[in-house]
Amino acid sequence: MVIFGGGGDLTRRLLVPAIYNLVGAGLLDEGFSIIAVDWSDLDDERLREQLTQTMREFVAKRRASAAALNEENWDWLSQRISFLRGAFDDAKTYQTLSSLCGVGNCVFYLAVAARFFAPIVAQLEAAGLTRETESRFRRVVVEKPFGSDLASAKALNAQLLNVLDESQIYRIDHYLGKETVQNILALRFSNGFFEPLWNRQNIDHVQITAAETVGVEKRGRFYETTGALRDMVPNHIMQLLAMVAMEAPISFDADAVRDEKSKVLAAVHELAPGDVVRGQYTEGSIAGRPMPGYRGEPDVSPDSETETFVAMKLTIDNWRWAGVPFYVRTGKRLTTRKTEIAIHFKSAPYALFRDTPVEQLTPNIMVMQIQPSEGVTMQFSAKVPGPTVKLGGVRMKFDYADWFQEGPSTGYETLIYDCLIGDATLFQRADNVEAGWAVVQPALDAWSDGHSTLHPYAAGKAGPDAADALLARDGRHWLRLN
Ligand code: BG6
Repeated sequence: MVIFGGGGDLTRRLLVPAIYNLVGAGLLDEGFSIIAVDWSDLDDERLREQLTQTMREFVAKRRASAAALNEENWDWLSQRISFLRGAFDDAKTYQTLSSLCGVGNCVFYLAVAARFFAPIVAQLEAAGLTRETESRFRRVVVEKPFGSDLASAKALNAQLLNVLDESQIYRIDHYLGKETVQNILALRFSNGFFEPLWNRQNIDHVQITAAETVGVEKRGRFYETTGALRDMVPNHIMQLLAMVAMEAPISFDADAVRDEKSKVLAAVHELAPGDVVRGQYTEGSIAGRPMPGYRGEPDVSPDSETETFVAMKLTIDNWRWAGVPFYVRTGKRLTTRKTEIAIHFKSAPYALFRDTPVEQLTPNIMVMQIQPSEGVTMQFSAKVPGPTVKLGGVRMKFDYADWFQEGPSTGYETLIYDCLIGDATLFQRADNVEAGWAVVQPALDAWSDGHSTLHPYAAGKAGPDAADALLARDGRHWLRLN
């Protein structure tokens, strides 16, 4: 595995720990090795020292039972890591790589800024490194952001496909590495009782929430030109929506799954500018701690117009979902960290309970909790014990931790392993990426023409009031964030 950006943050924080976990699971071959390519001032020894340090911190954060570095596994891996100092645009880097890679299988992992994706791939091709034969594969993993709008995503796909076959390209969306996201398909399609209800006859609407308490941290420069919509919606949110809304694929084969995602994403109506609310956090506090406003964050312009929150209404134009709104909200510095998908079912005909006060009638909601809680809850009405008939809202909860002993995971293990074994099911195909961008493009166009209002919200709130108004106009409201 050749990691471009091998001296960087992603490699240290996620890729190497994930690969270490794969060693622990016994899933790597003897012949496995890593070449970390970067321009930083490192060598084999210093890179290994740095990584050993991060790995010790990484395992220390785990549960007590797994809180020590497994020296044998780490030795096995660290001895296989070497450093290649080189510029990404220098042909010499690729000549050296060519001799290092020899005739073996290679995964080229682009853990670099997006502007390097196409140049690196072009250099790999020029050096003959992307050529596959009967006995060797050559694959390229592309991180996000995959373009910054529909046109740039298409251009990047064209550049990649100019030198690679689609089957060689693994576009990562780290949301698909989450167990709880993968579980959506298991839940829907390995059980008998959800799917018959999963349609416009029984579902009133769906709410998708990806709320964070963190701000932009040290990524001000990146975020200023990105904003919440580009950062989260065409990729992560669209993947969640596709998992919830797609038809059953005929198998777990990569193309069978991605075909179904493509179909449902193509049926999502383009986002009308009037159906999206933009917000930006101002000073506030979270859990009693004062927080600066977005405009006071490092590398952020004091009069920035970048949104840190979006809420929107999406609709899907097919037989299963016509008339069922999918409301989405995502933002930074919100009340609480919570990613979840809430399926709001239509209410029963309340004939028997016509005299029951409305507030006693609990809506039927099934919530798929993606993080940090991991599980599924169902909310419904039950009879309150006592001599009179009175209803009360109750909740039934499945929690992963109660049932399964989860192995240590960064969320990247499955993705890396799947790439090594050539299973692209959890990676995005070119058309999936473009379909995500196509949905949001009309809103991006309207915003670039200056047609948008930026609604402030204090850090620690659930977003701007305008987000509530978006649902209120349909007679609905968001689930509480905390
Ligand atoms: C990244 C975004 O893709 O996803 C970040 O660039 C965001 O801004 C992150 O914080 C959220 O991921 P997770 O796994 O913490 O929900």
